[in-house]
Amino acid sequence: MSDVQTLSASLVDEVRSAADADTLEAIRVRALGKSGTITALLKTLGAMSPEERQEKGPAIQGLRAAVADAIAERKAALDQAALDARLASERLDMSLPVGAGAQGSVHPVSQVMDELAEIFADLGFAVATGPEIEDDWHNFTALNIPETHPARAMHDTFYFPDVDAEGRRMLLRTHTSPVQIRTMKDAEPPIRIIAPGRVYRSDSDATHTPMFHQIEGLVIDRGIHLGHLRWTLETFLKAFFERDDIVLRLRPSYFPFTEPSVEVDVGYSIEKGRRVIGGDPTGPNGGWMEVLGSGMVHPKVIAAAGLDPAEWQGFAFGTGVDRLAMLKYGMDDLRAFFDGDLRWLRHYGFRALDVPTLSGGVGA
Ligand code: PHE
Repeated sequence: MSDVQTLSASLVDEVRSAADADTLEAIRVRALGKSGTITALLKTLGAMSPEERQEKGPAIQGLRAAVADAIAERKAALDQAALDARLASERLDMSLPVGAGAQGSVHPVSQVMDELAEIFADLGFAVATGPEIEDDWHNFTALNIPETHPARAMHDTFYFPDVDAEGRRMLLRTHTSPVQIRTMKDAEPPIRIIAPGRVYRSDSDATHTPMFHQIEGLVIDRGIHLGHLRWTLETFLKAFFERDDIVLRLRPSYFPFTEPSVEVDVGYSIEKGRRVIGGDPTGPNGGWMEVLGSGMVHPKVIAAAGLDPAEWQGFAFGTGVDRLAMLKYGMDDLRAFFDGDLRWLRHYGFRALDVPTLSGGVGA
């Protein structure tokens, strides 16, 4: 065997047994690279006499081709093996039942917001939103809470250091009521909206967190009166707590943006040793619990939002979503809502596929 044939046989052997892409590449560089053995042989052709070149040329060219082919073949085989290994390890079982092994759960606050949206959608209410970073005109002034009003101090407001282009102080909204103003400015009455969302107050203990959730309701139309408010809240609370024996008590109260203002209590009673919403509040250990603030929208608020209070009237209400969740699903510490503790989330969370519907039961 000539030297060329020996070299060819040993290189092809080496290529075929290369265990991985890096080994194969090292062999290629050693044989076919700039200073590789085969490259060096090819260079000798130039210095040969025509006869000698005719004799040795084909053997050297054949060597180059044989090694290059062997490398291409081995590379294809290694690539295929790598792909097979990946396909085997990344296998997905497409026949798994839906939800098997599901990890996440829907937070009770999201669940209750979905329940409320479902209940109010059935009554013809759309969902409205507004910014969490508000200005003091929308959060206070337009809601009939002027600069000097004590309610400004009562709200424990988080202010930003800057003012906006119109010189308004910027703040984190302290309630969802500014969405009333934004909605009345943007939409033509009649208006029926709810506005769920985050609100902020500088306050923190077992029943207060600096961030919490409210839901606002607003109805603006002609000839709206307290009777409409009462019916709407009663219908909502019965649907939410999923019982018909919910009793409401409306107490005169005060909010700057409603006149008259009413605070709404629901009756609770004791069933099987547990306090539940509903039943007879005058029975043993029964009583009343405050759940909502509400009232007829103040004419000044309607005017501030650019509508004529002689033509348009309405009612508004606001309540804490977190508190509604606690009352319905039995949690007792508000702070746990926002701790991100997996055990709490697994215990109180809802399955993602159980979307609340009125037909299926809103709290499914
Ligand atoms: N914004 C009031 C609060 O945060 C609740 C409320 C809303 C009262 C609408 C009346 C009407 O306490």
